[in-house]
Amino acid sequence: MTDSATPTGSAPEGADPEALRQRALAALLTARERTALLTDSVDDQELTAQHSPLMSPLVWDLAHIGNQEELWLLRAVAGREAMRPEIDGLYDAFEHPRATRPSLPLLAPAEARTYAAEVRGRALDVLDGAALDGGGPLVRSGFAFGMIAQHEQQHDETMLITHQLRSGTAVLSAPVPPAATDAGGLPAEVLVPGGPFTMGTSTEPWALDNERPAHVRDVPGFFIDTTPVTCGAYQAFIEDGGYTERRWWEPGGWEMVREHELTAPLFWHRDAGGWLRRRFGVTEEVPANEPVLHVSWYEADAYARWAGRRLPTEAEWEKAARHDPASGRSRRYPWGDEDPSPELANLGQRHLRPAPAGAYPQGQSPCGARQLMGDVWEWTSSDFLPHPGFSPFPYREYSEVFFGPDHKVLRGGSFAVDPVACRGTFRNWDLPVRRQIFSGFRTARDL
Ligand code: AVJ
Ligand code: FE
Repeated sequence: MTDSATPTGSAPEGADPEALRQRALAALLTARERTALLTDSVDDQELTAQHSPLMSPLVWDLAHIGNQEELWLLRAVAGREAMRPEIDGLYDAFEHPRATRPSLPLLAPAEARTYAAEVRGRALDVLDGAALDGGGPLVRSGFAFGMIAQHEQQHDETMLITHQLRSGTAVLSAPVPPAATDAGGLPAEVLVPGGPFTMGTSTEPWALDNERPAHVRDVPGFFIDTTPVTCGAYQAFIEDGGYTERRWWEPGGWEMVREHELTAPLFWHRDAGGWLRRRFGVTEEVPANEPVLHVSWYEADAYARWAGRRLPTEAEWEKAARHDPASGRSRRYPWGDEDPSPELANLGQRHLRPAPAGAYPQGQSPCGARQLMGDVWEWTSSDFLPHPGFSPFPYREYSEVFFGPDHKVLRGGSFAVDPVACRGTFRNWDLPVRRQIFSGFRTARDL
């Protein structure tokens, strides 16, 4: 079902409560498999170590996943007593910043695994007996179950970032993503004509609060890159002295470049033969035709200015991804309303890198842009702000406390995001200096 600001009378996709129960069960199981893979692939010493001050120890993520599931599915939905009230504070992300988490009296790896498994056993019983067709907004359509599956998958992406930051030999591997067979014939940019479109959603059952409600935005015509900016294109910016010329940079970006003496994306280094990068414990040549990864908003913004272009606004990005001019409606995904599949997008940690620019022809949007879903999170020029009519649900700390000029919006998901936590309306955000995330970008220009 697509979103339209004019009511259509049709029911939201998957509104059948039994289908939603099966979907929630599958999403919870898939998330736990991924969590197990990310936490069983290293030893206890590595699980409790802090691999970067930007990240929690992996064992914190593991118990935090269980604790959030207990809070929402056992206590809020089912009215159960706290299983271990003394640990709630340890796993409250707002009580303890990431850098201080290793010094907390955290559950040891075996205890954390047992706790998460016990919560999960009870949560599946709650799901079994929940009346998903009625009740309050938490239970209706299985929202809380979908939210918790998404939460676990978000932390699975966070844990994959921790894996990327750890030193030592590789413990993860995955097959290479599909090639870009017809990329040679693609135009560099595509046109998105001006006019109104429907942004956000009021019908997607598991959309989070910041994606709601659906509303009309008038977006003037613009051109947007057919694919994300590649490593090869980004290298041209580097070779042209991009990191040494103040004129390309926002003041905060120039400060960042000078303070940390930045010369390239995170994880890149130059050797006699050219640029190399480290990816999950392996050093390899930087692939020229792959979307650039691990750049901050400031780097994306500087590149765009150097290229005589700009980052797209968040509304432009969403219009390029969802607006179907033939029907006037907004799609759930760039390719249409069907759920993601391996032919449509690089999602779910099936591949541990982006696919070459121009891959996934079947996943392209109506304007002809490719790889809007999956591969790399795409920085937009926009601050993270509420949609008109926003109301926080079910807790202010998911989105509302982050609204404002400090955080920039990223859209579209990366290879590390599971389909349950990625939609045409899904919004991510981070500080403009962050580059350990799986971030890239594409550029745009006015008509
Ligand atoms: C939406 C990715 C910014 O990791 O900070 C996880 C997701 N919120 N637990 C984050 C989240 C609460 C959030 N991001
Ligand atoms: Fe969390």
